[in-house]
Amino acid sequence: RMRSYFISMASIFVAAVSLLTCQSNTASRDAIDQRVDELLAKMTLEEKIGQMNQYNGFWDVTGPAPNEEQARKKYDHFKQGLVGSVLNVRGTAHVRKLQELVVKESRLGIPLIFGQDVIHGQETITPIPLAEAASWDLAAIEKSAQVAAAEAAAIGLNWTFAPMIDISRDPRWGRVMEGAGEDPYLGAKVAVARVKGFQGNDLSAPNTIAACAKHFAGYGFSEAGRDYNAVDIGAYTLHNVVLPPFKAAVDADVKTVMNSFNVLNGVPATGNKYLQRDILKDRWKFNGLIVSDWASIFEMIPHGHARDLKQAAELAIHAGNDMDMESYAYVQHLKSLVEEGKVSEEQVNDAVRRILRLKFELGLFDDPYRYCDSVREKSVLMQPDHLTAALDVARKSIVLLKNDRGFLPLNKAQKNIAVIGALAADKNSPLGNWRAGADENSAVSVLEGLQKYTLAIRYAKGADVVVGKPEFIRETAVNETDSSGFREAVALARQSDVVIMVLGEDGFLSGEGRSRTNLNLPGVQERLLKAVHGVNKNIILVLMNGRPLTINWANANIPAIVEAWQLGTRSGDAIAQVLFGDYNPSGKLPMTFPKSVGQIPLYYNHFNTGRPDPTGLVFWSHYIDETNEPLYPFGYGLSYSEFTYSDLKIDTTDRQAINVSCTVTNTGRVAGEEVAQLYIRDRVSSLVRPVKELKGFRKFSLEPGASQNVQFVLTDAELGFYDADGQWLVEPGEFDVMIGTSSVKGLVGRFSR
Ligand code: BGC
Repeated sequence: RMRSYFISMASIFVAAVSLLTCQSNTASRDAIDQRVDELLAKMTLEEKIGQMNQYNGFWDVTGPAPNEEQARKKYDHFKQGLVGSVLNVRGTAHVRKLQELVVKESRLGIPLIFGQDVIHGQETITPIPLAEAASWDLAAIEKSAQVAAAEAAAIGLNWTFAPMIDISRDPRWGRVMEGAGEDPYLGAKVAVARVKGFQGNDLSAPNTIAACAKHFAGYGFSEAGRDYNAVDIGAYTLHNVVLPPFKAAVDADVKTVMNSFNVLNGVPATGNKYLQRDILKDRWKFNGLIVSDWASIFEMIPHGHARDLKQAAELAIHAGNDMDMESYAYVQHLKSLVEEGKVSEEQVNDAVRRILRLKFELGLFDDPYRYCDSVREKSVLMQPDHLTAALDVARKSIVLLKNDRGFLPLNKAQKNIAVIGALAADKNSPLGNWRAGADENSAVSVLEGLQKYTLAIRYAKGADVVVGKPEFIRETAVNETDSSGFREAVALARQSDVVIMVLGEDGFLSGEGRSRTNLNLPGVQERLLKAVHGVNKNIILVLMNGRPLTINWANANIPAIVEAWQLGTRSGDAIAQVLFGDYNPSGKLPMTFPKSVGQIPLYYNHFNTGRPDPTGLVFWSHYIDETNEPLYPFGYGLSYSEFTYSDLKIDTTDRQAINVSCTVTNTGRVAGEEVAQLYIRDRVSSLVRPVKELKGFRKFSLEPGASQNVQFVLTDAELGFYDADGQWLVEPGEFDVMIGTSSVKGLVGRFSR
């Protein structure tokens, strides 16, 4: 009795504390709203519009650079209070200088917000987001975002344009490196982890920054995988696939959202009222701010949606776009649009309130220089525990794709190792495409990582991946011809016992503006692989890449394949630890690897056809020259351990909370981590459902011989779906359920509810 007394006292206490926290949150929100309104009342229309204007620093990043005259004009705008935020100005000294200009010289001294693309780290670079998603380790992902936020805040920033949470089924699209892959369930979980990591619990703390869920919406479905291309998807896919990660981010209190470059079903996302006002602001009650993408208001002109910049500004604000990134549309035209009665001042006020609220929440009105501590700046960057976190998440992101006859891990006493491939010595590519403030060549290369284990290594480049020095803003040329290094590499392989080949994409072959029409190992690399294989078959292929690749020949011929993406600052250390068995790989693919580009879009949660199976005749859904199956499916990844699934149980006693469980046993010889995945299929539904949908996963480690009971609870939230109007439906019926080690292998059962 005493125990239950204490338990109930404790729960009353917890309830009281959470009520108080909730009340104090509401109180501070009310206090902020009041301060926002007081300030708004003092502002002229021009000053309000100024808050909605965001400029790039005076250099060029993802768009054309302003000419000198524009730069001068921009400078004056800061003094006149006509700028609310800047991007790409960083470093406490620069930030302080610009902040001072605005705070001291503009009439109301409203501080600027400083934003930048801090996508996977500021100076300490963690793996590209697609790789991190492969860890399925939400705590590690959150930690990685925390490290990025701490470093970004230390150099004066308070806003990152991340996480990018666009679901994509098209690896031709270069920006798949920046998202969490093809699945809305995993995508939503990763989105929340990253938002929490960036924003923490207190936005005004010196180590947190505002996050930005982007790109709203549909950008990952760009036709033919060509960046910036139009998107034409059904409402059903929009609501069930594209929007769930955004909804999850909004529920996790993401402070900002960026719209996108693409046209969605005929209307550019930036001018899309249905997306921004109806869904995001009205239906989801998002009260943060929406920023345009770079010049995306202007781009409604070439899209053929706006006749000129003035009309583009009008369409954008009506649609709900609050801040203009680098289109100069609001600053030039909003005032006359208000004067002409085409835009109401209340619409402007609403946008400005959202912007000012964020500035209050960031603590900028209490101290505009709170992110400008030059002493802290030095001590925070590349701190030892940041480097440790970067290594931890890098190891967890690696996916073991193939390991014939336990070829890996290598014995630490292994002698006579050849390392081949330009990427093995590359200290730049592992930093990926978005490397924020990282120094060039600051990653640990694979070669350096391996050398920490053994000096019994000889290296030959074999061939360059690219020609010349790749850059963020320019086209990267692939080496299609130069094979002059083959001879040396082949000779080395011939004399060696084991060959580690590091092949794949340069860090600047994926990312924005970097779509590909084929997904082979770029350039001459596959020829190099074959040449080496001709003299030595003991090859471990380490892949570095920003997207799924069609490595069919390698899969058929190479005994061990390790997917190492672009893993950031500690890349080489993480890879070496996996190759020598100090870390047992645990990653699972967040995106399907196709066998051929012709299969794209190829993704696990597709619909069935009416003719899914071979009939002996030609009339079934297939290709004549390739199977329907992927090379490696979603959720796939091996370990040095073996995991056996048994004892599936489904308990439907509580129809609102169906329990599904099984036992996972490590039947291998070493300790390892497994990601148990739960998939469902709604067998009959008013709107057909995919053949499989991920609805739960657990990552855990097991000693050899040990077992773990894995439990999942299925409620309406897992079993329902959105109709084409975005309304949530839950229908009774029969469901297949599978718990397993990937999207294609597991224990299957069925239940009705
Ligand atoms: C990208 C955005 C990015 C912005 C600012 C655009 O080109 O699409 O994701 O945040 O540039 O750099």
